Amino acid sequence: MQSIQYYSQIVEKGVGNVQFPLSPSNLYDPLRYFLVLGGKRMRPVLTLMATDAFGVDCNKSLPAALSVELFHNFSLIHDDIMDEAPIRRGQATVHTKWNQNIAILSGDVLLVKAYQELAKQDPKIVAELLHIFNKTAVEVCEGQQMDMDFENREDVTITEYIEMIRLKTSVLLGCALEMGAIVAETSKENKELIYEFGQHVGIAFQIQDDILDLYADPEKFGKQVGGDVICNKKTLLLLKAFELANDFQKDELAVLLNEEDAEFKVAAVRNLFDSIGIKEICKGIMQEHYSIAKEALAKINIPDEKKKPLLELAAYLMEREI
Ligand code: IPE
Ligand code: IPE
Ligand code: MG
Ligand code: MG
Ligand code: MG
Repeated sequence: MQSIQYYSQIVEKGVGNVQFPLSPSNLYDPLRYFLVLGGKRMRPVLTLMATDAFGVDCNKSLPAALSVELFHNFSLIHDDIMDEAPIRRGQATVHTKWNQNIAILSGDVLLVKAYQELAKQDPKIVAELLHIFNKTAVEVCEGQQMDMDFENREDVTITEYIEMIRLKTSVLLGCALEMGAIVAETSKENKELIYEFGQHVGIAFQIQDDILDLYADPEKFGKQVGGDVICNKKTLLLLKAFELANDFQKDELAVLLNEEDAEFKVAAVRNLFDSIGIKEICKGIMQEHYSIAKEALAKINIPDEKKKPLLELAAYLMEREI
């Protein structure tokens, strides 16, 4: 069985080969800066793993894998503007290091770069790849808009939240896997099942992201701890807290949403969540989606040995600290 590292190395080399012109430097420097900061590179690794799982050399899906990673990085540069995030991957975000206009435009060019990579796949399958890629890109925007709309709403349900994170996060994991499956030219059923696996790993992944946003070790995390609380993001933690709080705690939470002092707000919300046991409750919901993901993978008709890298990566993502 190939290790996660084996796939990561192929991705890292591929990302290293993505070149940008030197000028205009304010367009391309931010992209060079952002891409070498790394990140987990889990989406392109998923693409390569899926191709391998269906019995085809994973190098064949490297352009598709890179396209997903470039799209993801584009979405992060814009997401950090929307979320007013000061740091990402342990360094200043593009819009804080340069400015907002530069972050918009360099993000845009990165999106185009993603399509340029995708176009390197065999023309026989490019239409099918584009279909899932385009559908996903639109859905991610829908999810991002819902995420922002929810900041100003107090009646967001858990069902709406799950749909929002499915769109902003999970569909891209599903897409990464399905593109790997498309390159391997496997059956329609297998493509659907691997997409389903990605959807539920993605939902679990975003729940873990929500938990980490408040509970991560600031030394390791690489993002601002408490950013979601500061923006009044309707995370699973907040929604569950409102659902389970007693009347006194509900009032306190409602007051805290209007708190101006960010540091105080984050600490007070965390204390309140702790008194309700929110972290453990959210972990439980995360585990449910992780289980559904594993069920989808179990239904795929390939040897168990071939599924191991995907299972190993999913397990790592559930335990991740960054
Ligand atoms: C961050 O994704 C955005 C979310 C969907 C939560 P990652 O946690 O995969 O970010 P990097 O690429 O590893 O930095
Ligand atoms: C990001 O969700 C999803 C996309 C970028 C599409 P978050 O806003 O929670 O991601 P982080 O926490 O900033 O990485
Ligand atoms: Mg966001
Ligand atoms: Mg964000
Ligand atoms: Mg987050």
